[in-house]
Amino acid sequence: MDANIVVREATLEDRREIWEWWNDPVTRRMMKKNDVVPWEEHCAWFDGVLKDPGRILCVGFVDGEKAGNVRFDFQGEGVYEVSVNMNPQLRGRGYGPLLVGASIAYLNTVRPVTTLIAMMKKINPRSRKTFERNGFVVKEPTRDYPRMVGRFSPEEEWYSELIYGGKSDAGAFRAAASHAP
Ligand SMILES: CC(C)(COP(=O)(O)OP(=O)(O)OC[C@H]1O[C@@H](n2cnc3c(N)ncnc32)[C@H](O)[C@@H]1OP(=O)(O)O)[C@@H](O)C(=O)NCCC(=O)NCCS
Repeated sequence: MDANIVVREATLEDRREIWEWWNDPVTRRMMKKNDVVPWEEHCAWFDGVLKDPGRILCVGFVDGEKAGNVRFDFQGEGVYEVSVNMNPQLRGRGYGPLLVGASIAYLNTVRPVTTLIAMMKKINPRSRKTFERNGFVVKEPTRDYPRMVGRFSPEEEWYSELIYGGKSDAGAFRAAASHAP
């Protein structure tokens, strides 16, 4: 795919779009909490994320258009949880995997990374594929990361997916790096 992918860290100017994407009905269905989030609550959350050194919020552009956000939440030394939400207008065109890859490449330039974890519902094969395209391997939720696994009740159907080795691990990382700014 020839799309020009650029990733940068989020700023206040992204706050409204990220809120709109967050409240998209498909996004809500795929997340743990399904309620629509009011604007004030979002602002408090968003401002907190920007100030939090343990969280890196990236915004991706495809051919100059704001296309989605990818967030990394620190879980422990070298370990981050990854989550992604695309602009609903730009889903289904193969950009999600590219944005995740470019965001991981960016993360590797600003933080030491050994392990990335993403968790998703089993009703979300598109998300699973998005991470697999970046070298993630499907595992059942593991006790290795109790801070994350503890969030999900056992009866819920979730995959957790792990990638080891950071920058040098997968070819996908190197491919993604060429999309980074
Ligand atoms: C999940 C998401 C990031 C994927 O990004 P996207 O750009 O829409 O992804 P695409 O539709 O291009 O699909 C990505 C891959 O999944 C595949 N795919 C799409 N629908 C699929 C399905 N129903 N079953 C299996 N694979 C599917 C595509 O073929 C593509 O794989 P390929 O690159 O090998 O062809 C995006 O749809 C999104 O933001 N969804 C809402 C939020 C969400 O679910 N986030 C993840 C929560 S953990």
